[in-house]
Amino acid sequence: MAQATKAYTEQQFIEDVRETFASSRDARLQAQTIADRLRELFATGWPLSSEKLGKENGTYLIHADTERGHPDPGFMVMAYRQGPKKAAPPSPHDHGACFVVYGVAAGSNLQTRYRWTYGEDSTQPPVLEKTQDILQKPGDAAYFLPGEIHSTQGSTEEETVYVRVTSQDLDGAWRHRYHLGDNKTTVFRSATQPQAPV
Ligand SMILES: [Fe+2]
Repeated sequence: MAQATKAYTEQQFIEDVRETFASSRDARLQAQTIADRLRELFATGWPLSSEKLGKENGTYLIHADTERGHPDPGFMVMAYRQGPKKAAPPSPHDHGACFVVYGVAAGSNLQTRYRWTYGEDSTQPPVLEKTQDILQKPGDAAYFLPGEIHSTQGSTEEETVYVRVTSQDLDGAWRHRYHLGDNKTTVFRSATQPQAPV
């Protein structure tokens, strides 16, 4: 008699992410592997099935690792439940030396990528340009590598449940916010500037 396939679990996912960090220091490969495993976990109905996800809008800590991270220290897995979100002007930012895997379990999240475009004349400043929109739907996961610039817009019509895996705790990391149109950048740390997760 064939054995039933054992469902992929939150605990197994955490173990797989730990193993990913233990076996490689390649941020691109780590992020790809984590995104692949996250899609697999979404297919089981997680995180709506997780006892760690509450019913109210808010941020829910799934796992804070004390040992494994991009090149150390610990990665974090957070789940977010948010109601329909008012369309807001994009707020491009990076994640410093960290990478982030973003996945959607319910609703949607519009991910926009940007890059600096330099002209031939190096005395002139570059222009921050949008390069890609990805509309993430339930089951999708995408990653943003160290230094990559993006902005997000949760569904304006329905509840969005999404997950972030950060290669380290972002709270203490120096990061940058980029201002479209005037080329300005500002530096910030989440821990000293309370705000919606970015
Ligand atoms: Fe972000």
